[in-house]
Formats: sequence, structure tokens, C-alpha cells
Amino acid sequence: MGIFRTLNVDDVLQRQESGDLKRRLKSRDLVGFGVGIIIGTGIFTLAGVEAKNHAGPAVTLSFVIGAVVAGLAALCYAELASSVPTAGSAYTYAFATLGEVFAWIIGWDLLLEFALGAAVVSRSWSGYLANLLGLPPELFGEEAVVNIGAVLIIAVLTVIAVAGIRQSSVVTNALVIVKVAVCVLVVVVGAFFVKAANLTPFIPPAQPTDDNTGTLYQPVVQAALGLEQSVYGLAGMLTAAAVVFFAYTGFEALANLGEETRNPGRDLRIGILGALALCAALYVAVSLVLTGMIPFTDIDEGAPLAAAFNSVGQHWVGAVISLGAVTGLTSVMMVQLVTIGRIGFAMGRDGLLPKALGRVHPRWGTPHRMTIGGAALIAVIAAVVPISELADMVSIGALSAMIIVAIAVPVLRRSRPDLKRPFRVPFSPVLPIIAALACLYLMLNLDVLTWLRFGAWLLLGLVIYLVYGRKHSRLAVEEREQEKPLS
Ligand code: ALA
Repeated sequence: MGIFRTLNVDDVLQRQESGDLKRRLKSRDLVGFGVGIIIGTGIFTLAGVEAKNHAGPAVTLSFVIGAVVAGLAALCYAELASSVPTAGSAYTYAFATLGEVFAWIIGWDLLLEFALGAAVVSRSWSGYLANLLGLPPELFGEEAVVNIGAVLIIAVLTVIAVAGIRQSSVVTNALVIVKVAVCVLVVVVGAFFVKAANLTPFIPPAQPTDDNTGTLYQPVVQAALGLEQSVYGLAGMLTAAAVVFFAYTGFEALANLGEETRNPGRDLRIGILGALALCAALYVAVSLVLTGMIPFTDIDEGAPLAAAFNSVGQHWVGAVISLGAVTGLTSVMMVQLVTIGRIGFAMGRDGLLPKALGRVHPRWGTPHRMTIGGAALIAVIAAVVPISELADMVSIGALSAMIIVAIAVPVLRRSRPDLKRPFRVPFSPVLPIIAALACLYLMLNLDVLTWLRFGAWLLLGLVIYLVYGRKHSRLAVEEREQEKPLS
């Protein structure tokens, strides 16, 4: 069965040694990229939305649950990224362990995650900018027919992403400093306004929801059990955990920088685990302060953090937060664009996408065609599709890739016990199995509609693979050549 053919790990290692991408990043740059892509819409918007609509103050626990699941997955990513550093990350790990069709599906899934992620974030960026500068919402807000702001920011960032990885890194690091400073400001100043009454009861009792939106909007696990739709309680906290998982997505992007890292064996694991730990700590603190400052029922869904400070009379903090959100969201999109280029590069190299798409520019050292092509697609989606509910697609995409990565750890240990592993997940295979199950459980807490859309995307991917990738795959071409009779 050709579609289950696997890549030889030595081949992957050899090709990344002689690859075209330039080794220009150190562990500090990786932590910068990580925080750059992780902190964004998740904490600036979704934390407040989920506290209000599903979890109450227990949204802080939702962030803790998200951190644990992301942490387990990050350990698996760290082992594979440090032992098989490659621009393809989860896509290549799946190719080396589970086979070509799984690899394609996961690559396809990652493109969805990062492209929709960038589209969601560019629209939210545009909205914050309009809010900050008083720009017309008909051009920059969610009601815009064509969202000019979203298109503009994607265009500007594409130029930087194409110019080079060092440029992208310098811009990202500068934005990250502002973003982290804003989160620290929220925690330090906000702490003075926390009232115990707002945090009691910490897990509000479950109650039926009044906006009965139908089964499509119900978490799969509840719909399957035929439960009534409700909010708060443990179920609300879990639903919120699945949605705010969006806030943690992105750390996996670091694994795509394996061919541009000076010492991947060491730097990648420091980057992945360090960035995630820092963000998790900030998220838990920020969500606790937010729900402590105002009753969760009064949270503003548009700009939850800024509005909370405005409501306690601290308008200057509100303005600084809006500025921080605009900056913070910029770096998220920056790294998302860089990542799409790398995944396309790896898939083009293997012949599953047209080779020309993944080619690296001789001077800039970046996969410019894939980056520009991906950006054009993102700009079109961001311009016209009101995508707020598509944020869940990013979570489901990331979680499913994490399941594959977790499975790949013990599979690769068995097939290649000799491989040099600078970092090893403790207690394998128990811990990777727990990681996969935890990701699956969070996925089951996403709604039915998200699952249907995700299924449709995967099906489309499968058709493209059967029509194009299966025939053009580098391994398939090599196999055909070997089979040709010598004349
Ligand atoms: N994790 C990123 C965010 O929260 C995608 O915006």
C-alpha cells in the first residue's frame, strides 16, 4: 500500500543538514518566537468571553487544564523536534512513523490551523486598531464587508516574513517585550482591584442556558450523551478549556524552525518548554485578576481586559492594554506566516505540494512563494469571512496534530531505538498516551459544528492527496523509477 510508505529518518536528518534554510536562530530567539505566537487573541479576548459565557471565575482553571494538556503535548514535541529537527515538524514526524497519507493529512491540518489562525487574529487586530484610533468600523470592524485593516496588516507582515528569518525574529522579539510587559501590568495593577466577592463561588453552579442554540453548538461529548445545554459548573469549565486552548496553540510552530536553529538538540526544547511555561503562568494570573476585578456577568466581550480597567476608573491602563493587544496580535500573525512558509517548504520538498511552491529564495533564504501564496489566501479569508466562530477550528486542528505527535513518540522509539535523543519524554509510552487522550478529550468538548467543518476540511485534503500528492510524491516517483526495467 503505497499511501502508507514512510520517510527514512536518516534521510530527513541528512536533508536538513544540507538544506537551503539558514541556521540563524538561538534559544533566546526561539523563546521570543514562541511567546510571540502564543500570547494573542486567546488571552486578550477569549478569556473574558469564556468567563462570561461558560465558566465564570473557573476560567482560570480552564487555563490550568489547557496548560497541562499543552504541556504534555509540548514534551512530545520537544523529544521529536530535538531528535529529528525539520521544517515540517508534525508533518514530517508522521511521515517518518505512520506513513505518507497521515503525513499529508496532518500537514493539511496544520496549514488550516495557521491560516485560519492568522485570519482570525488579523480581523481581531483590525478591530482593536479601530478601537484605539477611532477608525471607521465599516472598514475595520467585524461588520466590514471587506475588512481593509486585516488585509493591510497581512500584506505588511508578508513582506517581513519573506525578507528573512532574522528580520522576522528581530521584529517579533521587539513586539514580544511590549506584549509581556502589558500582561505584567494587568496583573500588578489589576491585583489592587480584585474583590473576593467576585471570585465566589469560584465554580458557579451549573444552570440551563437561555440561548438555546441547538445541538450544532453543543460540545460533542454532551450532544452524544443527550445532555441538556447548560453553562457553568464542571461542564462549562471544560467547554471553556477547549475553547481557550486556542490561547496555547502556536508553540508547535517552534518545531518548524529546526532547520534554522543553530543547536536544535538543545535550543528547541528550551524554546518550546520555556515559552509555554512563561505563557501559562501569565494566562493563569491574568484570568484570575480579570475575573477578580469585575463580576464575570459584567465582562465586555469585545475588549474584556481594557473594559475591566475602564470600569474601575483606570482608563490609562485600558488604553495601554489596547495598544498592547494591537502589538501582541501583530507578532502572532508574524510567526503564523513564517510557519506556513516552512510547512509548505517541507511538503513541496517531498512532492506532496508542487515543488516550486516550497522553493527557497536564493538571497532571502525564505520559502517566499509559499509564504506569499499562503498570505494571499489568508488575506482573502480575512477580508470577507466573519470568522469569530472559526477560532475553534484552530483549536481542533492543533489538538489533532498533537495527538499524532504524541503517538509518534513511542512509535519512533520502537522503530528507531538507536536515534540520538537529546531530550526524552519521561515514562514513555504512558505519558505520550495520556497526552493523546487528554487532547482527544478536549477535542470532544468542542461543538458539533466545529467537528463537521473539520471533517469536511480533512475530506477535501484526502481528495487532493488522492488526485495529486499520491502520484507526485517524491517517494512514489523514486519507487516508479526503481521498478522501471533497465534498458
Ligand atoms: N495562541 C494564539 C492566540 O492566542 C494563536 O492568539
